[in-house]
Amino acid sequence: MTITYNDTLKDLPIEQLHHLFVAVGWSDDEPLPENLKKGFMQSWLNSTLVVSAWDGDKLVGAVRVLSDTIFRSIIHDLLVDPDYQGKGIGKKLVETCIAHYPDSEWLVGLDKKNTGFYEKCGFKQTLETGCFMVIPCKLF
Ligand SMILES: CC(C)(COP(=O)(O)OP(=O)(O)OC[C@H]1O[C@@H](n2cnc3c(N)ncnc32)[C@H](O)[C@@H]1OP(=O)(O)O)[C@@H](O)C(=O)NCCC(=O)NCCS
Repeated sequence: MTITYNDTLKDLPIEQLHHLFVAVGWSDDEPLPENLKKGFMQSWLNSTLVVSAWDGDKLVGAVRVLSDTIFRSIIHDLLVDPDYQGKGIGKKLVETCIAHYPDSEWLVGLDKKNTGFYEKCGFKQTLETGCFMVIPCKLF
């Protein structure tokens, strides 16, 4: 299986993206109402960076980032198709994001079941970081 990564396409195919949200249990399997569909796509289009993972033309993983590109960057909505989990795709998506703004502080919301995954990606949880896991800014 060859997985390819795209860090320029923000306008991901909405049906496939929604399928990923359903597959990881973040959304029910009902068709999105029009207003929600528009907002859902806007949140990806308006993100600073979107990285996606593909098996041919099948979307198998995605992540979006809000960033000032220098000091602070926040990871949102990292998800990998359950059939493709455990193959390094999630880590590669995160590494690709970090490579774009390598000096930035990186934050992700603390989620107990994924703490180990984010530690493997270089994030740390400390008393000071509160409800985030963090990679410190390299500039100060
Ligand atoms: C979390 C998620 C993105 C991980 O993606 P993945 O492609 O399965 O992870 P990878 O295969 O890249 O794993 C990288 C490393 O982290 C480890 N890892 C993966 N998930 C883990 C977890 N939940 N806890 C501890 N370690 C984990 C892997 O064993 C691997 O370790 P290795 O480098 O020593 O082999 C994926 O499980 C997912 O989409 N979950 C549902 C949505 C979700 O919860 N997203 C996170 C929002 S905060």
